[in-house]
Amino acid sequence: MKKLILVCVLCIAVYCTTHSQNSIQRTSKEKDKSASIKTSDFTLGQNEFLLNGKPFLIRAGELHFPRIPRAYWDHRIKMLKAMGMNTVCIYLFWNLHEERMDSFDFSGQKDVAAFVRLIQSNGMYCIVRPGPYACAEWDMGGLPWWLLKKKDIKVRSKDDSFFMDRSGKYLKEVGKQLSSLQIQKGGPIIMVQVENEYGAFGKDGDYMEVTRKNVLAAGFDRVQLMRCDWSSNFNNYQTAPSVAVTLNFGAGSDIDKQFELFKKLHPSAPLMCSEYWTGWFDNWGRPHETRSINSFIGSLKDMMERRISFSLYMAHGGTTFGQWGGANSPPYSPMVTSYDYDAPIDEQGRPTEKFFAVRDLLKNYLNPGEKIGVMPTPLDVIEIPKITFTKSANIFNNLPPAKKSKSIMSMEMFDQGWGRINYRTNLTASTVPRKLVVTEIHDWASIFINGKLVGNIDRRRAENTIEIPPVPNNAVLDILVETTGRVNFGEAIIDRKGITEKVEIQEGDHYEELTDWSSYSFPVDYTFQSNVLFKNEPALGPAWHKANFILNKTADTYLDLSTWGKGMVWVNGHNIGRFWKIGPQQTMFVPGVWLKKGNNEIMVLDLEVPAQRTVMGLNRPIVDRIVPDASLLVRKKGQKLDLTSMIPVLKGKFDDRKNWKDVMFKNAISGRYFCLEATTSILDKDVTSAIAELQIIDNENHLISTQKWKVIYADSEEMTAANHAADRIFDNQESTFWQSQYIGGTTQHPHQVVIDLGAEYQIKGFRYLPRSDKNKTGMIKDYNIYISVSPFKM
Ligand code: GLA
Ligand code: CA
Repeated sequence: MKKLILVCVLCIAVYCTTHSQNSIQRTSKEKDKSASIKTSDFTLGQNEFLLNGKPFLIRAGELHFPRIPRAYWDHRIKMLKAMGMNTVCIYLFWNLHEERMDSFDFSGQKDVAAFVRLIQSNGMYCIVRPGPYACAEWDMGGLPWWLLKKKDIKVRSKDDSFFMDRSGKYLKEVGKQLSSLQIQKGGPIIMVQVENEYGAFGKDGDYMEVTRKNVLAAGFDRVQLMRCDWSSNFNNYQTAPSVAVTLNFGAGSDIDKQFELFKKLHPSAPLMCSEYWTGWFDNWGRPHETRSINSFIGSLKDMMERRISFSLYMAHGGTTFGQWGGANSPPYSPMVTSYDYDAPIDEQGRPTEKFFAVRDLLKNYLNPGEKIGVMPTPLDVIEIPKITFTKSANIFNNLPPAKKSKSIMSMEMFDQGWGRINYRTNLTASTVPRKLVVTEIHDWASIFINGKLVGNIDRRRAENTIEIPPVPNNAVLDILVETTGRVNFGEAIIDRKGITEKVEIQEGDHYEELTDWSSYSFPVDYTFQSNVLFKNEPALGPAWHKANFILNKTADTYLDLSTWGKGMVWVNGHNIGRFWKIGPQQTMFVPGVWLKKGNNEIMVLDLEVPAQRTVMGLNRPIVDRIVPDASLLVRKKGQKLDLTSMIPVLKGKFDDRKNWKDVMFKNAISGRYFCLEATTSILDKDVTSAIAELQIIDNENHLISTQKWKVIYADSEEMTAANHAADRIFDNQESTFWQSQYIGGTTQHPHQVVIDLGAEYQIKGFRYLPRSDKNKTGMIKDYNIYISVSPFKM
């Protein structure tokens, strides 16, 4: 009986929240009933979340509405419900809603209130994460690029009044859209997040407090607030006690370990994993990421058994259309366009094996009165026969008006947010080859002299120089810079685009800065592209290519771009994102709702010359075909580290726990090159070594900045099964790790990694984090540390 009453109360609560917006005529009996129920509420209880005073386990899935065409929003929400979710977790990206300062847009594809109401009409709850910072592999983590016009801008800091003022204004606009949808006011919003993983960035509790107050002032004054961090850093700063603290971690995590410290510090708080990473994102030029179903489901089951609330990040990732993809750093690693994420629901909205595994698990753990949703009909896919491009327009024949400046400037200073920029100046004569030194290329440049391609500079490889041939006087130098995403995570987030500082000509020891630039901006909006002048012949250089094609049926498709170089695609005016031949992504998702019966238009901007000017629509994606690139491996062919003449500064042994391990030397040691050599593994027969993160401590007990670090040697890297590149030991992501080769490998101990710190330091110690999932393979036992001022012999 008790159960029955509870079911009724819940049903009525859902009914009220669903219909309170509409003026529905009710019978007097119904009126009486609803009058006796207090408005809905969601609060923190003793070790439980409480929905209307009753324990409630949140089973949330994350969706990003800008990564899903609006026409599919309802379908994706229904898919989440069918997977067993009762809540949808969403981010808002500030830069999407305020592309230009003071001009806010919450319409059409950006209509977040419509998305939240759709969640409610599907009988689900909602967690809102408005930022101001989000991360999410989104350009600048959601911060607007125009903040970078302020030369000394500090972001995510209360010390910058411009940042605080602008982020406060933005939050107020979010409040206008969503505050009436708090659960206490009849909406579906049960929690609102303040900031995002601030512990991975700073320790400034005051900044978080001001931001919390800004969220309150925006009108989110009734709803439960929360924040999210990692188990290793949630205690880096404090927030008001009313803010729920939640943790983020990945597939395969040891749940008890993750909450160990948290439970000590917050013994009566409800437990929640606010981002349980179902898969991972992909970077251009790096192997496709997946996370196994077993490890993912195993830890999810552990959470259910312990009544831990969760949100699947991502439940369905979708697509990072347009120019919105971000990047990680160091090293600079831009994101691909697909945000499939190896999530349970794939890029096109179809259920994967992971989806069914989640559904099978969750049906055993529903809250009283809950039902798993019915699966909506999957959306169609079509193949499109080969389309041949006949029209082209060379970039250099379509230069927009020049902007003149004495010294070179980043594109933000020309009021350009994204796209490409060409810098032009003249060179003096030289009879010998010289070097062009560019500080810094953000992010990939083609260098032309008198219209002829000399070569490329690629920021991913930390390149900054190229040799140029002898030239006559007044030769025209063009540096055409193609931007990929702005860094969305960590210290390097101030990431201006184009050329950030200067360009010099180097002859021997002599450097001369080039000046008197003409700069040409190529923005990403379709209006700009549609004004270029096409000719009925293939262009030879960087160019736009255009074609029309007829469809008698429309549905989703994956355009195969594998014969093209690097650039961007627009279909019927929709910017569907970036492509790059290096992979792993070779196809681009085109939603059927953006195609038309009859005539369609496709435009490709390629900075290189395509091998074939054709595309086809496939009925399946190719997101895992990487062009192998030995030059990206840190060990050159035949190279071997020779430590025979060196004496280790320390011989040590790590324990088998998964925590950060701090090791201090007796005295500080001068050095620029740091080598960790692993000689045995924790597991007996294990011949591999893995490191999730490595930090180095100077003689003032500060962590040395990783911005200038470079891995210059690793005896091997697993780049077939997954992305276990050596540089993952300082990508600031605890869930990614370097591992020596284990597929087809014949690797043996010792395993070594050598880091060039970029400058000489007094080194007092280091910190090591083993791979952080449950798996112990690769965990290091015995090790040696070598430090040197000059490079090791190899
Ligand atoms: C963190 C962030 C998310 C996202 C994931 C990785 O947890 O909070 O926005 O960047 O990492 O996908
Ligand atoms: Ca890492």
